Amino acid sequence: MAQYTRVSGSVGLITLQSPPVNALSAAMRQGIVDMMQRALSEPEVKSVVICGQNGIFCGGADIKEFGGQMSGPPLIPMIHAIEAASKPVVAAIEGIALGGGLELALGCHYRIAHSKARVGLPEVTLGLLPGAGGSQRLPRLIGVPAALDLITTGRHVTAAEALKFGLVDQITDHNTVNVAVKFAQRVADQPLDARRISTYPCLCPSDVAVLFEEVMQRVRRTARGAIAPIACVQAVRAAATLPYNQGMERERELMATLFTSGQARALQYFFFAQRAVGRWSMPSGARWDTSKPRPVHKAAVIGLGTMGRGITVALAQAGFSVVAVETQEKQLMEAKQAISGMLERGAKRRGVAPALDKINYGRNIQSVADVDLVIEAVFEDMALKKKVFQQLSAVCKPSTFLCSNTSGLDIDQLACQTRNPELVVGMHFFAPAHVMKLLEVVYGPKSSPLAVATAMQLGKKIGKVSVAVGNCRGFVGNRMLKPYLEQALFLLEEGATPEFVDQVLEEFGFAMGVFRMSDLSGLDVGWKVRMADGLAMPDPTTGQPTRLRQGRRYSPLGDLLCEQGRFGQKTGRGWYQYDKPGSQVAKPDPWLHSFLDEYRARHALVAHRIDHQEVLERCLYSMINEGFRILEDGIAAGPEDIDVIYVFGYSWPRHHGGPMFYAATVGLNKVLERLEHYYQAHPDVPSLQPCHLLRKLVASGRPPIQKWREVIKKVRSQL
Ligand code: NAI
Repeated sequence: MAQYTRVSGSVGLITLQSPPVNALSAAMRQGIVDMMQRALSEPEVKSVVICGQNGIFCGGADIKEFGGQMSGPPLIPMIHAIEAASKPVVAAIEGIALGGGLELALGCHYRIAHSKARVGLPEVTLGLLPGAGGSQRLPRLIGVPAALDLITTGRHVTAAEALKFGLVDQITDHNTVNVAVKFAQRVADQPLDARRISTYPCLCPSDVAVLFEEVMQRVRRTARGAIAPIACVQAVRAAATLPYNQGMERERELMATLFTSGQARALQYFFFAQRAVGRWSMPSGARWDTSKPRPVHKAAVIGLGTMGRGITVALAQAGFSVVAVETQEKQLMEAKQAISGMLERGAKRRGVAPALDKINYGRNIQSVADVDLVIEAVFEDMALKKKVFQQLSAVCKPSTFLCSNTSGLDIDQLACQTRNPELVVGMHFFAPAHVMKLLEVVYGPKSSPLAVATAMQLGKKIGKVSVAVGNCRGFVGNRMLKPYLEQALFLLEEGATPEFVDQVLEEFGFAMGVFRMSDLSGLDVGWKVRMADGLAMPDPTTGQPTRLRQGRRYSPLGDLLCEQGRFGQKTGRGWYQYDKPGSQVAKPDPWLHSFLDEYRARHALVAHRIDHQEVLERCLYSMINEGFRILEDGIAAGPEDIDVIYVFGYSWPRHHGGPMFYAATVGLNKVLERLEHYYQAHPDVPSLQPCHLLRKLVASGRPPIQKWREVIKKVRSQL
């Protein structure tokens, strides 16, 4: 785990050896303790260098150990012993020094980093704080404001930024270990008292109380209910206001609270869930590790509206040549301007040249003849998309992958329009496509593992978290959104206001409640889909009962708003009112409240008091119930896929782990019991009827979420 060698006669070199990231497991900690003792006891050794194998210093704690019994030497005394050592200890940081890895480096007397290294304290993203002295040493080393920034955001910084902060002593482009060894020789007989960070005073700006107040307010606002960022501020405040030992005690108390909180468990689950989705599988048995992708060099995007523009930017920024096609001249000019602007702003932020020359614009679909992969992003209209797929199939090389960015239409129907249906998949991006991390890769019955593997790999290359899902209406994300939206409308009919429903959902942790979100996306989008499906009824002569469709409860509220031209932010009116079209500041609208009163009166609905619990349970549990149906149908391979989709695509609060993890935390028996309760009260709402898989999981003794796949397999084999 940790190897010891003596180099250049007088330097003890401790090399951390535990691929892939030299995590600080029990065995690794034991190794470091033993090797340090050896280095300190050898009289020839005058100084020590700690480095990591294979160009990586240390990725931090071994997260797998978090759940179990603690064994091996604890980290805090180990780091204290390094800091207290009588010989200088130099950290040679290559690759990464993250979390416990950086805390280890902070215990060393000097830090030398390679120019390409990144350092950070990302514990907050796992629901924790840097609990091995990081919250106390970092502010003492780099000052309170910079430490607050790094610790509350968990962001990684480059070696250059770390040098600017004074976090590292030197950066090098050469072999970091060699440089560190030479450095260690030079400082061998330097006094160490001034190098022990725990003895430094914590330098604070004069208005430190105001600073903490401001940071606390900002963190509370952005944390959306997450407790770790708040504990991080409290820990740094302890560093700023207490002696080191008392600060360490406070760090320990805060860490203990976080460790036992459900949020840390949820965030750690989510950490592994993100990895699990990369190991995709299809019901046919095809898998990530047996399906090879084909390289994509040149791609095309068809339709340069909202989505096509973002997708073009994402591809060009990742270095792909893109042919961007838009049939309308005016749209094409506008798109060119918008795309160039996005590329220039992005390049400025990242300090690189804008990838403008990666894109060739055109109005003719013939110009995509030689591309390797096409992403279609024309209007959500099946007839139009079918036509485009027929044209693409005729124009493109036979080997070209044809992908659609449809939000929920049947991929199979599009595949049937082409010569090679096995090369057709959905690539469902989320708006804005160059920013949002999620990509649903949708396989139809004919899609080949090659096409799925290629789309998954392309997603990875453009920085997306890609999740492979099956083909059904709305795929995973939008399919689960339907019952959630539906419940929100029913709650309005029964007496709630959009403000109250949104407030409850935002308190739960969503970035935006359902109504503010709908106003942002545009109410007309769903309206058009409902009209195409024959659900919305702008014409009263259709004879459909207003609040019923095919024997199920239906709320026409959204349709009625659209009929009034209230499309949300874009028209300045929707579920809320806005100062002007395009404005983002939502204000309660008295018109809407009287409209709801009149609507209820017209339909003889008696408004009742709806409380916080009812809003949350009906909106979330109906969505979760659909999630179980999706698992039962094999549309998602496991609960992790659904949770990753919801966190990255729908702003589900990460500290609740995702909807399926949240269901497990609440208790599946409770979710089942509440769904039964609401279904009894609303028997005309099938989405509230608990699904078979949920019942089966409860009947099987509520296994932990990691074991659900076994029950799912059994349920599916019985279908
Ligand atoms: P949009 O209306 O902004 O843009 C569509 C563009 O396609 C227009 O510029 C139109 O001129 C162009 N177009 C139409 N026919 C064409 C053809 N034959 N050849 C080339 N260009 C053509 O639509 P938006 O919002 O970008 O949506 C595109 C697709 O992405 C739809 O399938 C939609 O469901 C899906 N989607 C939309 C999301 C959103 O938030 N807007 C999110 C995820 C998917």
